[in-house]
Amino acid sequence: MNLRTHIQSRLLGLQAQGIQHQVDRTYREGGAFQWVRETLVNAQEAGAKRIHFGIEWQAVESMGVYRRLIADDGRGMRADELVGFFRTFGGGGKPIGGVHENYGVGSKTSLLPWNKHGIVVVSWVNGEAAMIWLARDPESGEYGLRVFAAKDPATGETTQEPVVAPFKDRESGCDWSLVKPDWITEHGTVVVLLGDTPSCSTIEGDPGRAEDDIKGLCAYLNRRIWQFPADVEVTVQEMMHSDRRRWPSSVAGVGQRREALGCVNRVVRGARAFIEYSGANDGRVASSGTVELRDGTAVDWYLWEGERPSIQSYAAQSGYVATLYRNELYDVGQHHATYRSFGITEAKLRARLWFVLRPMEFDPASGRRGIYSRTDRNALLISGGRDAGAPLPIGDWAADFADRMPAEILAAIRAERATGSGTIDDERWRERLAERFGDRWRITKLRARDGGTETVEPGQAGAGSPPAPILRAPGAGASSGRREGGRKSRNDMGSVAGAIAAARSQVAGGIPTFRRVPACDVDPGMLAAWQPHDPEHAEGVVLLNVERPVLETEIRRWQAEYPPHQADLVKDEVIQVFGELAVAKIAHSERLKSILPGPTVDQELRSPAALTMALLGLMGSDAVLADRLAGKCRRRVS
Ligand SMILES: Nc1ncnc2c1ncn2[C@@H]1O[C@H](COP(=O)(O)OP(=O)(O)OP(=O)(O)O)[C@@H](O)[C@H]1O
Ligand SMILES: [Mg+2]
Repeated sequence: MNLRTHIQSRLLGLQAQGIQHQVDRTYREGGAFQWVRETLVNAQEAGAKRIHFGIEWQAVESMGVYRRLIADDGRGMRADELVGFFRTFGGGGKPIGGVHENYGVGSKTSLLPWNKHGIVVVSWVNGEAAMIWLARDPESGEYGLRVFAAKDPATGETTQEPVVAPFKDRESGCDWSLVKPDWITEHGTVVVLLGDTPSCSTIEGDPGRAEDDIKGLCAYLNRRIWQFPADVEVTVQEMMHSDRRRWPSSVAGVGQRREALGCVNRVVRGARAFIEYSGANDGRVASSGTVELRDGTAVDWYLWEGERPSIQSYAAQSGYVATLYRNELYDVGQHHATYRSFGITEAKLRARLWFVLRPMEFDPASGRRGIYSRTDRNALLISGGRDAGAPLPIGDWAADFADRMPAEILAAIRAERATGSGTIDDERWRERLAERFGDRWRITKLRARDGGTETVEPGQAGAGSPPAPILRAPGAGASSGRREGGRKSRNDMGSVAGAIAAARSQVAGGIPTFRRVPACDVDPGMLAAWQPHDPEHAEGVVLLNVERPVLETEIRRWQAEYPPHQADLVKDEVIQVFGELAVAKIAHSERLKSILPGPTVDQELRSPAALTMALLGLMGSDAVLADRLAGKCRRRVS
């Protein structure tokens, strides 16, 4: 081909091709029930006061097919808007493009891949109904709007139309004009999900994902959405039984609870209501508050006292850590390790303590570091500063929180620990270890300083107990500048906020300690875990799982060698030795920071698995060595 000579230029916009692949890819990256979030938020953004995840009962009665229907009384869409908003990938009636704005893809990407036979949208504006049908062409694989042969009632002319008046549809077993609940009057929208074939029941969600739990939809919304405005009501039509044979065969079954038959309309209340649970008889949120972290992230915490009500699986029964972004919770987790980084170990306390993190939002205009949501809206990322699309630094936030532990949580920790085992009376072992490792072990403390941005209650450790003793390595001068932690004569240091201006400072902090904990306080199967931020031990604490069978075996082995009346003493000593050895491992690993990156030491060498392996390696080896050597050598006569 002969190319022409350049005179002037303009831009040809990019063209989109193979949109179905983008739709499918985004769907794959999203999580279970994403479509619930997308349809709910669309309805809320349309100003709906009532949103109902119901069942389309006409097809139940005519075909035995249970289709999910989402109805709202928002502003609705006119015929031309229906086509514009649902035919265009990236098209919608709201501002699109900004990092915190809409993307124009939510409903399409979350619904189409598992509703290839169709999604019917019927919408009313000023009482007038219009309907579209989105589907996938089985031949080309493309998604699009079905085109209907339609007759103009005035002229009798037949044309091909993507938008029609809702009609009686024999194949689908329903009349689309009758899907409107009576509480939608002039304005509103109903979306009906048809699944991949005309006979699909879609009330159990996408069959390719774990969405078939009968309470799943409710549970998802009550974990994902933080709260609803007082004038918005969200309900879910929910079967009482997972066995399909026990589902009602007509709308008359709604409201029947008898013998676990039937179907109920359940009100969705949002995650916050289930934490606070006002009206519970035997317990309540006894204290709550907000801690501001260094980078502007706020952490809301809620501490429950007494019995938790039985929430079953409609929402989260017990404590969790989550990040809140624009009224939605992300990364909801209950893992030991997450709580541990907040300085919380005890299972009983974790069950009644919630942390809701509210980081700053990313501001692209100023470049301010902050969070935004990923395209599939299933995860949050951080951007700004040197971070671009990085995962959230939950560990850093948690460590910062642990340094500012509210007094009420501290009191709860002490109360839980007072009932458990694991107090250590004899601290001489720590003194021995501190002589070997203490000068390397540095911790953050608050120190009184004029004009400091923080405050301190000097002379107090976080627990209200005196600071851990810092022993000087032999020969080290007591006035050495680096060795200012612990029992220094000037009482200008502490761990809790107080009346005196202060700044944070890194000081030599003694040596970690260890605590005996039950199995439920560490990761399943692990013998130990390292908790670097502990409100009672600024220098960190090793958690030793005293319920681990391997430790019990070791205890029995040693008990067998001593008279029965000393069994308790032997047990205590074995646990003590393993605790000390675990602390020595942690202290020793500090030295490796001169040859390995700090995060490798913290996250890998001190992981529960690594610590467990280190301790397992110590078990029984003395006995093996004693036997071998006894067989080969003669003991030295001292
Ligand atoms: N229930 C509804 N009531 C009124 N309008 C709706 C409803 N659902 C969708 N729309 C319209 O359809 C458009 C497309 O919705 P879609 O969820 O695909 O994208 P979006 O909401 O614009 O962006 P996002 O990707 O952030 O969800 C919306 O912008 C809105 O104008
Ligand atoms: Mg949307």
